[in-house]
Amino acid sequence: MTTQPKIEPHVIRHPVLVTRARREARNGHRGVIVWLTGLSGSGKSTLAYSVEEVLHRNGCQTVVLDGDDVRHGLCRDLGFSLEDRRENIRRVGEVAKLFMDAGVIVLTAFISPYRAGREDVRKLAGLGDFIEVYCNASIEVCEFRDPKGLYKKARLSQIAEFTGVSSPYEAPHNSEIVVNSGALSVDECVQQIVQEIINRDVFQVPPDCSLKS
Ligand code: ADX
Repeated sequence: MTTQPKIEPHVIRHPVLVTRARREARNGHRGVIVWLTGLSGSGKSTLAYSVEEVLHRNGCQTVVLDGDDVRHGLCRDLGFSLEDRRENIRRVGEVAKLFMDAGVIVLTAFISPYRAGREDVRKLAGLGDFIEVYCNASIEVCEFRDPKGLYKKARLSQIAEFTGVSSPYEAPHNSEIVVNSGALSVDECVQQIVQEIINRDVFQVPPDCSLKS
């Protein structure tokens, strides 16, 4: 495991004038990190973007951070070794926190296969500000779906260290939400996630609110 370099003692944070509380008051909702984890093909990206659609329609400030997207830019230097995945999640966690502190509802879609990495982000976010969503779809279901043809390649050893095939996935023990994304429809999963966000007092539901995606 790589250890993080110490922070330079002469790097001092500037005081914030426009605080998180002021931003949240203007937005009319809390900033929070909704962290979707699960195997490739378990529906994380589809659900993150669909939940964002519902929240956006209901007046929320949102952003989606998606694994395949981030790996084209911010994390383009990283591969899929244990160390690189940990660094991927560390960077994404930091970015997610910046957005959260700006009062935004952050939806992330990363396999994030290691419990320790996800727990690090949970600690970084702080109590009540990290909602872990386990997209529970079995390897059999994900492999059957195989939307990008990657499982097929992994079985042919054309992709190394593929999660669920030749690299581990540590399912959460105590996630805030478990969605049965292997069996339920997208709409059913979206409604479950949005309802949970509402239950956690992130935003007030307008009377005419539709939770459908
Ligand atoms: S993570 O493990 O570091 O969290 P991340 O979510 O960013 O992974 O990226 C996963 C995506 O990268 C998958 O959806 C898939 O499209 C692609 N991918 C390419 N190679 C691999 C691999 N070896 N294991 C898992 N996903 C891979």
